[in-house]
Amino acid sequence: MTTPTITTSALRSSTNHAKASTALGFPLVPQNLLEIGDLDGPTIIGLLDLAIELKADPARFSQVLGGMSIALIFEKPSLRTRASLEVGIHRLGGHAVLFDQQDSLIGARESVHDLGRNLERWFDAVAARVHRHEVLDELATYCDVPVLNTLSDRHHPCQTLADLLTLHERGLVLADSHVAFVGDGNNVCHSLIQGMVAVGGRMTVISPEDHGPDPEVIENARVVAARTGAEILVTSDPAAAAGAEAVYTDSWISMGEVETPAKLASLARFRVDAALMAIAGPKALFMHCLPAHRGEEVTAEVIDGANSVVFDQAENRLHAQNAWLVARLSR
Ligand code: CP
Ligand code: NVA
Repeated sequence: MTTPTITTSALRSSTNHAKASTALGFPLVPQNLLEIGDLDGPTIIGLLDLAIELKADPARFSQVLGGMSIALIFEKPSLRTRASLEVGIHRLGGHAVLFDQQDSLIGARESVHDLGRNLERWFDAVAARVHRHEVLDELATYCDVPVLNTLSDRHHPCQTLADLLTLHERGLVLADSHVAFVGDGNNVCHSLIQGMVAVGGRMTVISPEDHGPDPEVIENARVVAARTGAEILVTSDPAAAAGAEAVYTDSWISMGEVETPAKLASLARFRVDAALMAIAGPKALFMHCLPAHRGEEVTAEVIDGANSVVFDQAENRLHAQNAWLVARLSR
């Protein structure tokens, strides 16, 4: 039996959108994705399952964004996010327009309010990578089309969707999985915490006390964990990685941050090397959002080793983001 190509116009012509969506199996997602905490566990799993379908049979979804245009705004450099969004939107039949704002920050030439009010007149969604997370909140307030956070100083939700997809597609049950993030408690760490607690998994953050995750993120994660049955531990003891299904790290200095010798010195003990992977165990996967700095947060032996899934994560950026785009824009 051939599965018909899904088109947005077909969905829109339906007299019962909810039924059409349910029949097609698309999860209902909120208007904006500014942080992973905007999604609950079942919605995340629904998106991951949709991403697996998109990955297996992209032709079936080739016209879902037909006639739609999406603005891509970047205040910071990017390889994976820009490539996966431009290629991904093209595969869904949509059109991406790039705004490179690296030399002119959002809100400088005109207010975020006016930017949002303009963009909503032409675009069906806006994806933005910004220095200050508050800019996304403001954009989402004034722009009447969905806003997707493609990295801010506080969150990187697209990355976490791809990371969870990388585990889920390997058959790992996220609710039974233990992920250990080692290193700087940054934007990627915050999103991973939110994702793992939403799906009811076990999340361990191993970082120096002076560079741990934001206490507010942890406090909120504990509230969610109480509801989902997740476990969360923040420690500076690498032994806490024992038995983890995956060990994750990210760069010690994030984009836009000033490198200091003191921070590098604090993090030196948190490099992911063969000894740390051995604590997790022989089956533990190694994960990194990339770009990586071999010899700094991770040794070459680990990132180039057999257990490394970093390029699967990079590929999955496309499928995970497309799942969100399909779920959000095809109704
Ligand atoms: N992981 C990630 O977001 O990569 P880029 O900065 O290259 O987009
Ligand atoms: N924490 C890193 C992630 C890069 C994808 C940064 O913000 O630069």
